[in-house]
Amino acid sequence: MGKFKVLVANSTIPDIAHNILKTECDVKVCEEGRESILQNIEGVDAMFWLSHYKLDKELLDKAGPQLKVIGSMSAGYDNVDVEELKKRGIKFGNTPGVLNDSVADMAVLLCLAASRRYIEGRQAIEQSLWKPELNAQWLLARDICGSTVGIVGLGGIGLAVIHRLKCFNVAKFVYTGHKEKPEGKAVGAEFVSLDELLKTSDFVISCVPLNKETEKMFDAKAFSKMKSSAIFVNVSRGATVNQPDLIAALKEKRIFAAGLDVMTPEPLPPDHELLKLPNCFVTPHLGSASTNTRNKMAELAANNILNALKGQPMLTPVV
Ligand code: DGY
Repeated sequence: MGKFKVLVANSTIPDIAHNILKTECDVKVCEEGRESILQNIEGVDAMFWLSHYKLDKELLDKAGPQLKVIGSMSAGYDNVDVEELKKRGIKFGNTPGVLNDSVADMAVLLCLAASRRYIEGRQAIEQSLWKPELNAQWLLARDICGSTVGIVGLGGIGLAVIHRLKCFNVAKFVYTGHKEKPEGKAVGAEFVSLDELLKTSDFVISCVPLNKETEKMFDAKAFSKMKSSAIFVNVSRGATVNQPDLIAALKEKRIFAAGLDVMTPEPLPPDHELLKLPNCFVTPHLGSASTNTRNKMAELAANNILNALKGQPMLTPVV
């Protein structure tokens, strides 16, 4: 019998996390649903968290005062009431870094699929619109080569995107954020204001975390500053975008196209307007969804929990 009680609040996490936790803990697993978590959380010392539900006061009250640590298997934690955790002295860790490569791969996929008009091309085949007569003006793309790429939020993911896109012979990388960063200089990216980035970029790639400042930052005003040939890509969180404004911009061709791995709501209903736009390429929040990355995230989250339970520093603490 292990010393600590841990609730794994998602039955789909990789085995590696169970194996790590089992070395020191009694592990109980429940389904991800809020009701199921509420039914199982009482009396646990730690929780392994992988959920889009809110981690809030109600869950923490139900857990009880012995709860010491929560390890989230995600980089983002906008659905977690971090202030409440701080107040209660509950430690909380996330899994940044290990998913940078996977998410950056997804950003490149979205840049390519949106700029090469993947949806329109596929639909043209399915609807017999691909004609035998060659049309030199048909489904022309916007090149990444020679373009200006703007990264909004130059963290690990943004940097990994730059490293990849360098191979595409991008003319210029710009980025924006709170301050100029030495890492930006190291990869040859220029620090600019958000306004400047929106006005000059051919590809605008959102890699910002979701918080009060970034919520709905991509709105009608932002889209109106972008070039009509611009491509907007989002691998951060759907709520950084005012989605009706994005849909209007795409419909009215005020921007060329969008590639979205994140949107609101998630899951996106199958009849959602975003899916009807030929210039919008959508994937179902798969940024970190590779076997290796999910294993690394699970391992890190489990080790964060064990460390905290044993009184050692977490590897990647938030609080
Ligand atoms: C994260 O970890 O925040 C990614 O969005 C994957 O869910």
